[in-house]
Amino acid sequence: MKVAMFASEMEPYIKTGGLADVIGSLPRAMSNAVDQIDVFIPYYREIEHRKFPVRKLPYEFKIRIGSKNYFGSILELKTAIRNLTIYFIDNYQLFRSRAQLYVREGKDYRDNLTRFVFFCRGALEAATHLSNSEVYNVFHMHDWQTALIGLYTAISSFFEKSKPLRVYTIHNLAYQGKFPKSQFRLLGIAPSYYSSIEYWGKFSLMKAGIIYSDIITTVSPTYAQEIQTKKFGVGLEDILKANQSKLFGILNGVDYSIWNPKTDRFIPANYSIDDLHGKSICKTNIQQHFLLAESSTIPILSVVSRLAWQKGMELILKVVPPLLQQERIQFVLLGVGDPKLEQKFNCLGREFPKQAGVALTYNNPIAHQIEAGADIFLMPSRYEPSGLNDKYSMKYGTVPIAFKTGGLADSIIDYSMNSTKGTGFLFENYDEESFQDAIERALKVFQSQNKWRQLMIRGMKLDFSWQNAANEYLKLYQRRSD
Ligand code: ADP
Ligand code: GLC
Repeated sequence: MKVAMFASEMEPYIKTGGLADVIGSLPRAMSNAVDQIDVFIPYYREIEHRKFPVRKLPYEFKIRIGSKNYFGSILELKTAIRNLTIYFIDNYQLFRSRAQLYVREGKDYRDNLTRFVFFCRGALEAATHLSNSEVYNVFHMHDWQTALIGLYTAISSFFEKSKPLRVYTIHNLAYQGKFPKSQFRLLGIAPSYYSSIEYWGKFSLMKAGIIYSDIITTVSPTYAQEIQTKKFGVGLEDILKANQSKLFGILNGVDYSIWNPKTDRFIPANYSIDDLHGKSICKTNIQQHFLLAESSTIPILSVVSRLAWQKGMELILKVVPPLLQQERIQFVLLGVGDPKLEQKFNCLGREFPKQAGVALTYNNPIAHQIEAGADIFLMPSRYEPSGLNDKYSMKYGTVPIAFKTGGLADSIIDYSMNSTKGTGFLFENYDEESFQDAIERALKVFQSQNKWRQLMIRGMKLDFSWQNAANEYLKLYQRRSD
């Protein structure tokens, strides 16, 4: 079986969020079971600067979008896995000239539609070119940026015969790739397609992904249910319900070769269930890094997150300051995003210099050090398709407190409901009181060293490795489209 995967981010090349973690790990986890897996991503400036040993293929293509021609080329990168190859789709103006992936100063690039139409058509050009010897059996697309591949495949004469199975994975339904009707012509397809992807007076590439795929997946079983409701369906709930028979929820995995306190090379001391000593060294390290008072007994509550509406940071801004005031906790946050939230967290850090540390940057090593050094991880997400940091936290013995939604509900067992099986603390009503109550429940258990240790160890023992998820995807790949 030959698989092509299309995405806008992939670890270790480029990352803004969990999508990159998934694309970095899932193809690896599948590689044993398929003949070939090729991943297509845009060639961004940061990837170029990091100087991976790419080889430019002797093939260039031209794509007409609106009234302009865009030229593209393909850069090939072989990986340590024999049958896994990365293909970067290159165009200087649309990707390599930009400092960030999707936005400038918090606002979407105005030409995002052109950028991702170019990527989808360019990646299909590349896939066609690379199909010379053997065609792909599966096209696996991820999120709106790659959703048009399903539509283009449906109308391309090249794929008419081979008909690759089109799998579309929704990582976050709310980021839809919505564009005004006036831009539809940029897709370069007959106007008659407009109605099929029309969305409340505009058109939505997310909707295109749903309609023009054979199988839809999303990143947890609970989120697969939630998006069929008005509350979580962002206007697409009826279409998702209508496509229920081809919709599957597969919980994201964890790459334990990267996220494991036993082997993590970013943390100052490694540790495991058998010897937790290193965790206290990691805690001191975090206190020193953020210039907090050094104490082994005060609990450190932590956040590593995009600062976006989805993540419910307002609840933290309400509930955490009184606890700092009472000197009951320390707090560390690593995050970038909404400038207003950044400013509020900045103020919080300045108000409590010895108790709260705030880093408004993107920094992977510090993310690992927080996972290892904190006691508690906060995820009051309003919705969370899967969530990865809750699963990473549990591996590091850092107990999560989270809203019971999406992949958080599928991964964390609430301690207060079941103290012999619990692995974290969940709250079910999305309000300040319930979040506060969950934190209080956690702080109470934290007082008892023995109980807390058992709670940590239960989380550390869990196994969310990618292999299970990979097998589920592989099973879906076996279904042929007719
Ligand atoms: P989402 O994809 O919605 O942002 P996930 O929980 O799936 O949420 O994944 C977030 C990923 O991004 C995790 O790997 C997390 O460690 C990482 N991350 C988020 N913010 C930062 C940051 N400021 N610095 C480093 N890593 C970050
Ligand atoms: C999205 C979701 C997150 C998920 C990630 C990877 O960014 O917000 O919950 O873990 O995609 O699937």
